[in-house]
Amino acid sequence: MAELRGSHGDQPNHILTRWFGTPDLHKLEVYSSKAGGYTALRKALVDMAPADITNEVKTSGLRGRGGAGFATGVKWGFINRDAPGPKYVVINADESEPGTSKDRYILENSPHLLVEGILIAAYAVGANQAWVYIRGEYDEPYRMLHEAIEEARAKGYVGPKPLGKDYPLDIRLYRGHGAYICGEETALLESLEGKRAQPRSRPPFPAVKGAWGRPTLLNNVETLCTVPWIVNNGGAAYAKLGTEKSPGTRLMSVSGNVRNPGVYEVELGQTFRHVIMELAGGPPEGRRVKVFWPGGSSAPVLPESMLDTHTDMEALAAARSMGGSGGVIVMDDSHCVVRAAHRLLKFYAHESCGKCTPCRIGQDWAVRTYERILAGEGSQVELDILQRVSDGLQNGRCLCGLGDSGGWVIDSTLRHFREEYEDHALRHECNVGKVMASA
Ligand SMILES: Cc1cc2nc3c(=O)[nH]c(=O)nc-3n(C[C@H](O)[C@H](O)[C@H](O)COP(=O)(O)O)c2cc1C
Repeated sequence: MAELRGSHGDQPNHILTRWFGTPDLHKLEVYSSKAGGYTALRKALVDMAPADITNEVKTSGLRGRGGAGFATGVKWGFINRDAPGPKYVVINADESEPGTSKDRYILENSPHLLVEGILIAAYAVGANQAWVYIRGEYDEPYRMLHEAIEEARAKGYVGPKPLGKDYPLDIRLYRGHGAYICGEETALLESLEGKRAQPRSRPPFPAVKGAWGRPTLLNNVETLCTVPWIVNNGGAAYAKLGTEKSPGTRLMSVSGNVRNPGVYEVELGQTFRHVIMELAGGPPEGRRVKVFWPGGSSAPVLPESMLDTHTDMEALAAARSMGGSGGVIVMDDSHCVVRAAHRLLKFYAHESCGKCTPCRIGQDWAVRTYERILAGEGSQVELDILQRVSDGLQNGRCLCGLGDSGGWVIDSTLRHFREEYEDHALRHECNVGKVMASA
């Protein structure tokens, strides 16, 4: 795998990537001696009651970095720590959202950060067993995380009495089954249990009935990697970063038509202009940003005129988009938006698990409609069909968010690039000069 470029260093607002770039940071000895590693675990196990840890996470205002942005501390609080029987922590390291590579960046730089975050979370919610569901294609991150867990086991952090505390903690790795749907939390749990990855109906939610029917905390890699900092510095200190409702920093993987693609740690509230034009260097010479996806391929697109949108979740919601997985995909003016939307719908149609009808039929229907438009056979009818299919995929009509994703691509590109769609469907021409018949 190619090395991922990104931001690291001692910038004051860098929480996750502060020590990235330190030679051999992936080794326990270096993580502990140079990056203050495992001090948070010690503080949590020795000095804090489990409820105090959850309260600090609540105070921090941290919101999940996997996609939906749910309040992390609130989610932890849903697990009944005192319920009899096993409870689990499951870590979502599936990272299969197009344009997203931030979890891989963490795992390849500082796998112990995740190990430490997992151990703290497990202790806080009353779990003794954690599972990391890691994307099947992630060979190097898998190897590095495996080594880190074994180092932590040898040191006693993972094991029957971590840091002398009579509280057994174990972490096991599970390699993903190679489909986008495996990242959806309930499909992931099915897959972890050895079944076909298809979403479950909710309720019950995983916090009540998750892995093997037991209460389960399910969090994204980056979410849990933020926890050691919160334990060390306090939730209130974290809440001071970013904006009031979207505190802290998040990793953004910027890809597409930019000069410096890579993973950047961004304090929430910065603008996308800062992220795309400054951190990632903007589009190539002579080109303009035409459109960007602010939160992975599933997030509704924004046009160049909205580059000043802020990165916090509220600003994105006001712009009718979302921060999603933190994957910022940039497309310059040499590309056709209709063609890009068609390409993405092909992805969603291919990855639809088929369990619910609107997604199974709708994504495919959209692909066929795009194909007619791109073959020069479109009309107003095709534009209307796209809008109707898009509506039928959104707002809870599907079992999981995969349906919405396809709907949002259609809806947001139609909303911001109506003229480009009309060029194709009504005038049978492409304003970026591509040959229509080659769709
Ligand atoms: C189709 C689909 C794919 C998803 N893929 C991922 C993924 O690869 N990694 C991830 O953390 N969350 C993914 N999610 C979101 C998860 O369902 C879940 O919300 C998240 O892992 C919860 O963790 P968090 O609260 O820490 O964000 C996906 C959701 C959908 C609908």
